[in-house]
Parts: sequence; C-alpha cells; structure tokens
Amino acid sequence: MMKQIQWFPGHMFKSLKEIKERIKLMDIVIVLLDARLPLSSMNPELYKLIQHKPLILLMNKMDLADDYMTTIFRKHYQSLGYATLLIDAQTGKNVHKIRSLAEEVLHEKLAREKAKGLQKRALRTMILGIPNVGKSTLINQISKSSATKTANTPGVTKSQQWIKLGDDFELLDTPGVLWPKFEDPKVGYHLAITGAIKDKILPEDDVVHYALEFLRTYYPDRLFERYGITSDATYIEMLDTIGQSRGCLIKGGEIDYQRVYQIILTDIRGRQLGGLTFDRP
Ligand code: G4P
Repeated sequence: MMKQIQWFPGHMFKSLKEIKERIKLMDIVIVLLDARLPLSSMNPELYKLIQHKPLILLMNKMDLADDYMTTIFRKHYQSLGYATLLIDAQTGKNVHKIRSLAEEVLHEKLAREKAKGLQKRALRTMILGIPNVGKSTLINQISKSSATKTANTPGVTKSQQWIKLGDDFELLDTPGVLWPKFEDPKVGYHLAITGAIKDKILPEDDVVHYALEFLRTYYPDRLFERYGITSDATYIEMLDTIGQSRGCLIKGGEIDYQRVYQIILTDIRGRQLGGLTFDRP
C-alpha cells in the first residue's frame, strides 16, 4: 500500500500568493524542473498564475536522467508550446543558452524596445522550482556565465530585492520554492527517491520497496548489472542479495536492512544505476 504524504497547503498557498503578487514585475519566469521527474516536479496550480506570462522550462539534472525519457518529455512540453532547455546546473552545461532562449520567447517585446532605441538590458525574472531542484546552483552558474566582462565587478550584485546576475538577468530575491502536488501518492515516492524531500517523511522501507519494484518494471537490466538481481526475485530476495554482496550484516549473520536501504538510495541518486527517470507520460 502506498502511503499518502501529509500535505501542507499552507506552504503552497503562501508561495503561490507571493508569486502572484510579484509576477507583474517579471519579463519572464523561469521554471526549473528535475529531468528525472518532469511531471512530479511541476506544479499545475502554477499555470493558472502564469499562463499569460512568458515562461521557460529548464529540465535540470539532465546528467542524472534517462536520456531517452528526457527527449520524450521535452517533446511533450514543446508540443504544449513551452520553450524548454536541458541543463546540468552543477557543471553549467547549457546554462549559457538560457539568455538566448529567453530572448527568443521575448523577441517581440525586445524588438519594440530596440526600435525605440533602448539598449540591451538585464531581463527581470524569478526562478521557481521544488526544493532541491537546483535553484541556488543555477543562480551561481548564471552569475558566472554572464559575469560582466569589462568592469571589475563581481557577477552577483545585490540591490534591495533584486539580485543582478551579470548582464543577463535581474533576479527577484524570493525563495521561489514551489511545492509539487502530492495528490497522486506516486509523486511523493518519486520525490523521496530522488532526495527532493527528506528521507524521514515517508518510511524508508516503503520508498525502497517502491524504487526496486519500479526498477524491476522499467529498468530490469540495470538491476541485473549492478546487483545480479533477476526479475523473478521477490522484494526480500532483492534486499538479501544486495545485503549479502555488500556485507551488510549484523550479529548472527542477519541482514542489516537499514544499510541496504541506504546503499540502494545512494546508488540511485549517484547515478550508479545509470540515468533514471521516474515519471512516465
Ligand atoms: P535548491 O536551491 O533548489 O534547493 O537546490 P540546490 O541548488 O541547493 O541543489 C540541490 C542539490 O542538487 C545540490 O547537491 C546540487 O549540487 C545538486 N544539483 C543541482 N543541479 C544539479 C545538476 O544539474 N546535476 C546534478 N547531478 N546535481 C545537481 P548538494 O549540494 O550535494 O546537496 P545534497 O546532495 O547534499 O542534497
């Protein structure tokens, strides 16, 4: 039985309200998704607020996701009319393309400004995403990649509530944390597996059980390659196989399941099983 996460509507209400209040100030909104969770890391309520606002979707942590599924989801979002970009905020891959993507989305507005003789300027934006999706990592990368090259100023300068990220963007200094929707219990499991929510929120054994069943269904070869587990093994047999091969034993030769859970989650999050995507269209 999947457990439903206790949901905190207060948090979501507050962040949506903050976004709503500030949305008018933005040239463009940047929504950061986790490429491993292109659906679970998205908040549908957000669309009601920003549907008339220029928007770009960045699929972050592309290095940890399953490339094949990433392509499918990217096409899905593109077919809905969203400008999308795959990025790896940790290494900075594709981060330099964000500004030109934003310019494409805003081309009419920017062309009007140019026609009036206005100079190229920093675009006002806010970066929204679920906890741990990589917002601060991205902010650091943008400030590095668009740091003012001529003047001797640091990439990030702060004035009141706006943070200037080099010449490219001015970012509203607001947490921008967007809670996902937990109505589908799978969403909670996907967030727990990838580490978006703390390990204690859902029982670890449930999360690992879900993860192993998921891998058995969608990535059986990876389970076999990494642990020698065949798809006819029961859940307990899978845990025992991993526990024995990794020497996770307590007194009396019993398996230390807590350690097995940690090994599995660390392997999944650290790409030891290859790129994985947990949502399915
Ligand atoms: P947040 O502000 O949205 O909450 O997220 P933050 O930037 O703090 O990033 C959360 C973790 O995700 C960080 O790991 C960060 O390095 C990692 N991360 C961000 N972008 C990418 C990416 O594109 N690829 C990979 N592989 N990792 C990324 P951390 O500092 O090690 O935190 P933790 O592992 O202790 O949670």
